[in-house]
Amino acid sequence: MLTRRQFAGGSVALVSSGLIAERSGIGEPAPFSTPLPIPQLIDAAKQGNAVKLKVTSGRHAFIKGKPARTYGYSAPILGPVVRMRRGDEVEMTVENALNFVTTVHWHGLLVPGNNDGGPQQLIHPGDTWRPVLTIDQAAATLWFHPHPHHDTARQIYMGLTGMIIVDDGSDAWLGLPRTFGIDDLPIIVQDRMFNSDGSIEYDNDDTNPLEVIYGVRGDTIIVNGAVAPFAKIPPGLVRLRLLNAANAQNFELRFSDKRTFYVIASDGGFLSAPVPVKQLTISPAERFEILVDFADGKPVALETGPDEEMGVFGRVAPDGSADFVAIMRFEPTAITPTVNELPTRLVEPAAVSPASAVQSRQFILNSGLCASRPGGGEHANSPLLIGINGKPYDIGRIDVETKLGTTEVWEIVSLGMAHPFHIHGALFRVLSIEGAPPAAHLAGWKDTVLVEDKAQLLVAFNRPATREHPFMYHCHILEHEEAGLMAQYICA
Ligand code: C2O
Ligand code: CU
Repeated sequence: MLTRRQFAGGSVALVSSGLIAERSGIGEPAPFSTPLPIPQLIDAAKQGNAVKLKVTSGRHAFIKGKPARTYGYSAPILGPVVRMRRGDEVEMTVENALNFVTTVHWHGLLVPGNNDGGPQQLIHPGDTWRPVLTIDQAAATLWFHPHPHHDTARQIYMGLTGMIIVDDGSDAWLGLPRTFGIDDLPIIVQDRMFNSDGSIEYDNDDTNPLEVIYGVRGDTIIVNGAVAPFAKIPPGLVRLRLLNAANAQNFELRFSDKRTFYVIASDGGFLSAPVPVKQLTISPAERFEILVDFADGKPVALETGPDEEMGVFGRVAPDGSADFVAIMRFEPTAITPTVNELPTRLVEPAAVSPASAVQSRQFILNSGLCASRPGGGEHANSPLLIGINGKPYDIGRIDVETKLGTTEVWEIVSLGMAHPFHIHGALFRVLSIEGAPPAAHLAGWKDTVLVEDKAQLLVAFNRPATREHPFMYHCHILEHEEAGLMAQYICA
């Protein structure tokens, strides 16, 4: 088998199957022996809308008895789930207790550019950042993570990821499962490569174009920081807030018995009605809320399959095989509360009309090798171009100027491989994707979309951003973002 190291020095013709065959030597962990860790819930309103986060390092044993060095937000790894109510102003206090610079970006939260935590908003070691976040958007599952240019990927890989729940009261009147940690669970899915001593280490050679394009992927899936955990849940409907917080990997989620489950929300909030599916692709930074019916009382595994969107790299499952792997197990147990009724309607997203757009723009996502050398082969070492419309990211350049309160049509074209495209400070609707109208679960408000070939988005610009603190738009494969697949816009 080809190891990733050999791959990194080799040619593209060799990469088809062995990319992540480098085994970490951790041995197979006894599956489903660790309870699913549930992050601490911070209900902002219950503490006077003042929330403190300490960005810190810690130790966390992914593998029993082998603690690893990690980073977290007020926790050894990951961070709390912060619930914020629509209409509130939340005073955040973010202390950087690490010995390097970071930022905290509220991914999906609609706040002005100067509170967005982008690459300009550095929090130096020992410093504290105090943004006041005005919460004014529909109920949704969001997240937060670092965004310093050239160190985002490593910091997230080492553990810096937290979740935000925006609550606007609709959960209650829709009768949805909403008891945090019982029938309403955060499910943060990531892949990691572990060393034999159980440690993780961010390992990306950014001088190697192939390695950059492939991104950092691992052979072991962690859910809320645990390898193959189990969760006891009530024998009824359970709501899972799925977040793909991987650096590069798309997950293909399904249940081991192929049961139908229901997508109720995407990045920006509820869909108009539950969408029944048997399998769900979730790309880096996307969120979906799903309802799963466990009323049959049978334990079932959540699985992920081969990443179908690997471009020249082919189709590879996280463990290097071409099959599905179980990433956690659900065990129905007699606990209350139990919600049994699947709602028929949710929240109709506002009607949007492309005719209202004041501008159309096209963004070509370049991931150089594939763009310039289709098929790779002997020219695999050609100069790397990773950028948007031929330009790599420049923190001093404003790429686009938008007008507050307007909508625009953005056409996104991926070259070479699928890219999860994300826009800060705005939500969009997918008008078309790969030449067709979006599937029902992609038809609501979103902030990230996986574009394999081409998508047209109707973007609503409702938050201001200045030259000093512009909004980013970028590919959420973190190695692409850092190599330059990012740009910035202002809005006034
Ligand atoms: Cu998840 Cu630029 O962000
Ligand atoms: Cu990309």
